[in-house]
Amino acid sequence: MDRRIRILKRILIGALGSMTVFFIYVNVAGQSGRWQPPPHKNVFSPSSSPSAEAQWKDPGPYHVAYPRNYKFIMDDTPTCKSTTPFLILMVPVAPHDRASRDAIRKTWGSDKEIQGKLVETIFIVGLPGGADAELQQVRLRKENQEHHDLIQSNFQDSYRNLTIKTMVMLEWLVKHCTQSSFFIKIDSDMFLNVPNLVKLLLDPNTAQENYMTGLVWWHSPILRNPFNKFYMPRYVIAEPEYPPYPLGMAYVVSLDLPKKILSVSPQIKPIYIEDAYLGMCLKQLGISPTDPPDQNMFIVTPVHPLSSCSLSRVIAVMTTSIPQMTEYWWRSKHAQC
Ligand SMILES: *[C@@H]1O[C@H](CO)[C@@H](O)[C@H](O)[C@H]1NC(C)=O
Repeated sequence: MDRRIRILKRILIGALGSMTVFFIYVNVAGQSGRWQPPPHKNVFSPSSSPSAEAQWKDPGPYHVAYPRNYKFIMDDTPTCKSTTPFLILMVPVAPHDRASRDAIRKTWGSDKEIQGKLVETIFIVGLPGGADAELQQVRLRKENQEHHDLIQSNFQDSYRNLTIKTMVMLEWLVKHCTQSSFFIKIDSDMFLNVPNLVKLLLDPNTAQENYMTGLVWWHSPILRNPFNKFYMPRYVIAEPEYPPYPLGMAYVVSLDLPKKILSVSPQIKPIYIEDAYLGMCLKQLGISPTDPPDQNMFIVTPVHPLSSCSLSRVIAVMTTSIPQMTEYWWRSKHAQC
């Protein structure tokens, strides 16, 4: 009995010791890492440095390399060039994920005119990675020759680079879509009820400027557990919570905002959590996101299968598979409450 307790004790102490060493390692490694916060600069306060590129040149593990001179290497879509959509559906998607793109093209991306308003879909990708990157690139080019709805920037496409994807998306919109009214950034695993979204945007109560809506997180704590997917050390952001932001799965933005967000972004540390980063930029602009008029419009943790009544009200909902997304699209056409 005694012996067992002693062994247990030793194991416990050993485990605690390793954990402590690991925590110290994570924090110290981060602090002494390559990224050094500029002196006397807070994440949320403006910087006096005009050269943003120099300031964030060497991002550590919790930052991304932005702004940097990324270029679009595929960009022959007619959208916003020979057309002026009212609403643009911007879908960041992994380069290899043709299946999701095709499903979207056949479902919610297929309705181009809704209530007399033009709606167009754009897929945004970075550079493919992995052993078959070259083959993927050939396939992307072929796919775009068929559909002309892909834009590709020359950063490495990865989960950790989502903030870069979002920011180059904003750059593209500023360059091409100033005549359009709104865009929605929507993930490829979502069902989007486009008619309901257009209805919301045409509602006289919907602001036409400084407007950003979605599932707004008003008090999102900054997660300090290094094992968490969204871990953020204190030395990067000291505040206990992020400024309010709509969840990245789907957010709707009036098209005056991309330019404003880009104008303040050089003053804000480019953290890898893209939606929280936009919240930080909004705060810098003194703009607050807007809650949707009905809390059933944006759903992140749905109970599947959605009822006809939910489908008739929803704007964007997370789905678990392409067949499920397709089914919701068909059912939404006749959904009633
Ligand atoms: C993010 O993209 C930049 C630019 O292409 C690249 O240098 C970096 O390695 C990428 N990071 C990740 C985690 O993929």
